[in-house]
Amino acid sequence: MYPRNAWYVAAWAHELGREPLARKILGDDVVLFRRLDGAPVALEDQCCHRQLPLSLGKVEGDCLRCGYHGYRFDASGACVEIPGQDAIPPTAGIRSYAVVERWKWIWIWPGDPALADPAKIPDLWWCDHPDWTFTKPAMVPLACDARLIIDNVLDATHLTYVHASSIGSGGLTEVTPIIESGERHVRVSRWVLDRPPPPMYAKAGNFEGNADRWAAVEFRTPSVAINFAGCVDVGYGGPNGDLGASPRRVELVAISLPTPSTDVSCYYFFGFCRAFAHDDPEVERMFSEVMVDVFREDFVILEAQQRRMSERPAARRVSTINDRASFLARGMIERLAAAER
Ligand code: FES
Ligand SMILES: [Fe+2]
Repeated sequence: MYPRNAWYVAAWAHELGREPLARKILGDDVVLFRRLDGAPVALEDQCCHRQLPLSLGKVEGDCLRCGYHGYRFDASGACVEIPGQDAIPPTAGIRSYAVVERWKWIWIWPGDPALADPAKIPDLWWCDHPDWTFTKPAMVPLACDARLIIDNVLDATHLTYVHASSIGSGGLTEVTPIIESGERHVRVSRWVLDRPPPPMYAKAGNFEGNADRWAAVEFRTPSVAINFAGCVDVGYGGPNGDLGASPRRVELVAISLPTPSTDVSCYYFFGFCRAFAHDDPEVERMFSEVMVDVFREDFVILEAQQRRMSERPAARRVSTINDRASFLARGMIERLAAAER
């Protein structure tokens, strides 16, 4: 269902240390830890002796020792010690995965390690850029297909209903979206021109009257969704506007990285980057707490939807114009997965 020869987020960089961390990624049980020099390691989370999860073992130097009979494996997955005997059978060893730390995340390549090119890691430069502030990140395990998150993020019409009591849509969903797509991405953009900006933007950018506001979301294969939002002075927005020339500009980016665990579960990694109000504790709280609560409103929907879909997989599903972006995104995921089969 998802391509294996691709980078997925396995963990936040700060989650990973010298204790083994267990994750199930695209159906594979994986154990992660850091070597003495800090480099991340990902191995199959199963001992080749009697199948104990190695995440129950201990990190020793750059190795992982099984918590049952003490077989020791190095960072490449080779068995390098068997207590009580000198000879190590050539078949003793476990699988290792390509892993790279970048943009505050640990990325894993579940497919062929020989094809794992770090240049293919999605470019999420805002996370490390000095002009942007990255809010305390979150990861939530969800009992739903990761693609339901992609559908959710790509279809803003849910804002009016799911987030009625929190952020609402602020008139966004009344404008016709512009949809662009390529081989590996689809982008849905909306412009609300010459209207009062939401209070947070007005305050952050000192907008007294109206502003030009945008909200766009871009899906990139296989499992990245980025929301772009912000506002500029009237006259500088719109599809052909010049945002950089605007005297005032408030801009933020929300990054969603749902990593499939099984067909009906995933890890939802998300974070917010903003290019305004860097040291304002109230704005920080807005992203670290208020926005996380907004995301929680989606989690209830996504898990309830999955329960029903699992109970009734053959149920009829009607699709309309607002499903177009997610239809395109799902097609891209499916084509990449099919090409590997
Ligand atoms: S199960 Fe791991 S050493 Fe026996
Ligand atoms: Fe939502």
